[in-house]
Amino acid sequence: MARFASKLEGIETLYTFNDLVLLPGKSYVEPREIDLSTYAARGLRINLPFISSPMDTVTGSELAISLAREGGLGILHRNCSVDEQVEMARRVKRAESRIIRDVVVVTPDTTVGEAYRIMEEKNIHGLPVVEDGDRLVGIVTWRDIRYSDRGLRVSSVMTPRERLVTASEEVSLEEAKQLMHEHRVEKLPIVDGEGRLRGLITFRDISLKGRYPMASRDEDGRLLVGAAVSPFDLERAKRLDRYVDLIVTDVAHFHNENVIRAAAKMSREISARFVVGNLGTREAVLEVLSRIERVDGLRMGMGSGSICTTSVVTRVAAPTLYATIQAADALDELGLHGEIPVLADGGVRNTGDIALALAAGASAVIMGNVFAGTRESPGRLIAIQGKYYKEYYGMGSARARAKRAGLDRYSKPSKDIDEGVEGWVPYRGSVSDVVGELRAGLQAAMGYVGASRITEMWEKARFAYIPPQGSLEIKPHDIFIPG
Ligand code: IMP
Repeated sequence: MARFASKLEGIETLYTFNDLVLLPGKSYVEPREIDLSTYAARGLRINLPFISSPMDTVTGSELAISLAREGGLGILHRNCSVDEQVEMARRVKRAESRIIRDVVVVTPDTTVGEAYRIMEEKNIHGLPVVEDGDRLVGIVTWRDIRYSDRGLRVSSVMTPRERLVTASEEVSLEEAKQLMHEHRVEKLPIVDGEGRLRGLITFRDISLKGRYPMASRDEDGRLLVGAAVSPFDLERAKRLDRYVDLIVTDVAHFHNENVIRAAAKMSREISARFVVGNLGTREAVLEVLSRIERVDGLRMGMGSGSICTTSVVTRVAAPTLYATIQAADALDELGLHGEIPVLADGGVRNTGDIALALAAGASAVIMGNVFAGTRESPGRLIAIQGKYYKEYYGMGSARARAKRAGLDRYSKPSKDIDEGVEGWVPYRGSVSDVVGELRAGLQAAMGYVGASRITEMWEKARFAYIPPQGSLEIKPHDIFIPG
């Protein structure tokens, strides 16, 4: 066979979300009983398989908080300074907890004006007052300072130590609630035997527990959150490490010698879970797993993103469904499928796509477009001809690249071309509404397949190919739909 003609021999047919359907199967469960809990990374349980993309028009702290409360997980974008990204992570971790560990404090000689500014900026309503770093001497609340002279010192308006209600580390949630109720206080500082501040319990946190029963939380009751880093930005990863539950590499082509080397080093120097990507093929996954000691998750898919022009520019692609199957099979070979989660990233538009990705072996999906349209995403909202839209652009677009260029030395582009576009996506309402729809749609899909949990999707779901003409028949047709 001629050398080049042989390249066409037995080439792969590559299926995408658009080409496949799931065949119905016998069901024993009602959709509402279907369990959607899964893992975002090795051992990191979340209640819904929905993860938001690390993009600056998608995941900031606001969206990460809302999504984790609903049971999913947000990955904070890196198109900002390290300090800003760390602050986003801290905001998520402070949003809810049993005991806040990362307490914002002031000293007795702080001015009322300064305390006011801190409370406004961080959106908190009480600050413990400490001396010598962590010796508790009082607490100052919004009520104490709201109408006070801004020039006064905090020491003259705070509730002093002798009148403070405090508790020790061992206090249970119920006891804390009881104490706060009895003494009509909303903040309960946690102190050790020597009077040093060890944490803070707030009434708000306790009451939030009941409001978000599905939330994805860590052992301290705080919301789970991830953060994206460049594999070359070890300093950023180290700074984020103590605040986030997972660190996710953010690179278009992870299967690259320099990237693998840098990531191998990173995996040894951080303690958060480590998710790598993006990857597209079985060989890439096998090599990455053999070269990097600790990989806790795989971010799969190249070229499918709704804002992605990589394949237009380069004609190189490993669409998300294909890449997901490649990873799932590579992990299966090693006996690791189910232990190291596969995250299907890019091109997911609706619950049908999510169901396909799970059937292909994914544990969860990463979505940009879907979440960019929510109220909580950071992008701007605009009205075009009476309809609302939110701004959305690729991280490889000229817009995002220009923003990153000013930031740090890791922003130095390795390529001189744009690989993303900018535009607008329809406004979809709150994260809670969007997640509610996704959850119900996915449960319905799994109900048809006959799977009562995601691991059963891996076993039971069967694919069938539908040619382009056929796709027209399985959506509304021959009807005029106004609007
Ligand atoms: P979407 O959900 O289809 O909009 O795809 C979002 C995914 O596209 C992200 O999670 C990234 O993996 C990927 N992505 C983000 N920005 C770019 C870009 O500029 N070019 C190519 N892919 C991108």
